[in-house]
Amino acid sequence: MTERKPFVGGNWKMNTNRTTSADLTRQVVDALNTVHGVETAVFPPFPYLLAVRTILRDRGSAVKLGAQDCYHKPDGAFTGEVSLDMLKDCGVQMVLCGHSERRHVIGETDELINTKTRAVIDAGLTAVLCIGETLDQRESGHTDPVNQRQLRAGLAEISGDAMANVIIAYEPVWAIGTGKTATPEDAQGVHAKLRKLLAQMYNNEVADRTRIVYGGSVKASNAEELFRCPDIDGGLIGGAALKAPEFAGICKAAVKQPK
Ligand code: 13P
Repeated sequence: MTERKPFVGGNWKMNTNRTTSADLTRQVVDALNTVHGVETAVFPPFPYLLAVRTILRDRGSAVKLGAQDCYHKPDGAFTGEVSLDMLKDCGVQMVLCGHSERRHVIGETDELINTKTRAVIDAGLTAVLCIGETLDQRESGHTDPVNQRQLRAGLAEISGDAMANVIIAYEPVWAIGTGKTATPEDAQGVHAKLRKLLAQMYNNEVADRTRIVYGGSVKASNAEELFRCPDIDGGLIGGAALKAPEFAGICKAAVKQPK
């Protein structure tokens, strides 16, 4: 079996300002300086990417730089959008695709998310494809079909080779920012089904090496029990990523759990 390196990303969402994004970056870099065996990334708001990148680079940090979204067209009349070339110019290495807030607040469709995911891969960056069911969908027994549909649709026309540049983030919408975390058993159950689906869509090798991380109210205090599960390869962190000690604690919890 392939060994999957754990991944923990800090999604800062629409938080921080010019001062606090720089302070948080410096604190995260210092806190993770001696932490090895986990791939880490921060996803600041667009206006702060360049400043965060400068701090990461000047300090020789292994923390990667991610963007929370992108637009798939290379350039042109797309007011307000940000292209992948622009993101690369700012040192971005990974991009979130289909985060639940983009699906449910902004209204992105599976098709648009797939287009963006393919564009990220084509640009040579890593796509973090986010999927997850809402509370209504869960309570009406549709957790598996929803996640399967989002996974299949998000990965449409993406080859097995290209999957080396994809991380899947399972983020149940009802667990995001609510303090309600999925139990390790529930999350593990979904992750195992997603991995099985990857094996059907591609093959066992792709399923085995693709990282599937969990997101939704992860904290330093519950990270270890989640990351201990065999199919949970790390986390995508929202609120707790805004506090460097908390984020570092989560990253450290992932180190102890190589898969
Ligand atoms: P919280 O950790 O705040 O629940 O957010 C999770 C998330 O949406 C990360 O992308």
